[in-house]
Amino acid sequence: MKEKLIREFKKVFGDGGEIKAYFAPGRVNLIGEHTDYNGGHVFPCALTIGTYAVTRKRKDTKLRFYSVNFKHLGILDGDITKLEYNKKDGWPCYPKGIIWTLKNRGIDISEGMDILYYGNIPNGSGLSSSASIEVLTGLLLRDMWKLDLTNQDLALIGQYSENHYNGVNCGIMDQFAIAMGKKNKAIFLDTADLKYEYADIDLKDSKIVILNTNKRRGLGDSKYNERRTECEEALLDLQKVVEIKTLGELSEEQFEIYKKAIQSPICRKRAKHAVYENQRTIKAVKALKEGNLEEFGQLMIASHKSLQYDYEVTGKELDTIVDAALRQEGVIGARMTGAGFGGCGVSIVKDDAVDRFVKNVGIEYKKKIGYRADFYVVEIGDGPTIL
Ligand code: GLA
Repeated sequence: MKEKLIREFKKVFGDGGEIKAYFAPGRVNLIGEHTDYNGGHVFPCALTIGTYAVTRKRKDTKLRFYSVNFKHLGILDGDITKLEYNKKDGWPCYPKGIIWTLKNRGIDISEGMDILYYGNIPNGSGLSSSASIEVLTGLLLRDMWKLDLTNQDLALIGQYSENHYNGVNCGIMDQFAIAMGKKNKAIFLDTADLKYEYADIDLKDSKIVILNTNKRRGLGDSKYNERRTECEEALLDLQKVVEIKTLGELSEEQFEIYKKAIQSPICRKRAKHAVYENQRTIKAVKALKEGNLEEFGQLMIASHKSLQYDYEVTGKELDTIVDAALRQEGVIGARMTGAGFGGCGVSIVKDDAVDRFVKNVGIEYKKKIGYRADFYVVEIGDGPTIL
């Protein structure tokens, strides 16, 4: 892949100079959904699919971007002295946001760059292609300009850029999972203080199968920011009766005692999901450590139900694919993953049942939704790397 992309880079931008290549993964979240902006736990892992970049410094202040995925757009121009957000700039808003964030932190990139990107994360699938580009850009800037930044910094810079440059109020999960990913491990992250531990993912004779509904999920125009606001409203009401900083501090029992303080029934449902999902995530990691995959699967199923009925972020496509998945032989658990409103589900399926599972769920989905779903049997990969 590296050689092929370097050849492509030279074809687009010309030969000469020091050319370097980088990779950052995508991510899938196993459990702990919509908890990361509520001070709760998440349990994501990095994938072996992701985004590649090839780059070279320039002698002027120009930025030139090219995506192998959007060849028809050609080279898109920018300039390091003109980083103001402009929606019309399209996908380069992601890398530009990272340079802009660094500038905000007093880290000045003094010269321009040519950068080629290529991603094999299905676009708009909810496997974090945007966070992958963000962390990847942070990594290449760190390496090219010898910046003193940790991988955790790269995650925070990515999130800052997403929140303040691209206007999506996301939590830290995606960028953290990508920047800190480790082969065959999921990350048990407490988003309240960013303490984390790696958990071995030993699925014995099972595999992680991602279920792509092919219903595109645009975070910006989705109801993501609305859900955040509803949780904040619930928290403000709760804070009148109990001393907490986040919903993640509450146990299920405490929530049941205090929930009446939440005025709006909708916000009460949203908060219930945040509290119960956080506790489910803690239980799921414990179950996995004890080798109890069955229980892990049951908690995944409960997670989906809560996202469907209390958080209301699933929608017809995700519900259809997860329902179909749960009716198959050899399935251990299935749920939506990521923000919701389309995108992907994640399931754990016994090795010897995978082929039949994919076939049957595919047929059922197409029959009910009218277009096809895609399936990926995935491996858990490492974090970002210099190639
Ligand atoms: C998106 C956001 C994350 C997280 C998930 C839902 O992926 O980027 O921060 O909130 O949705 O769990």
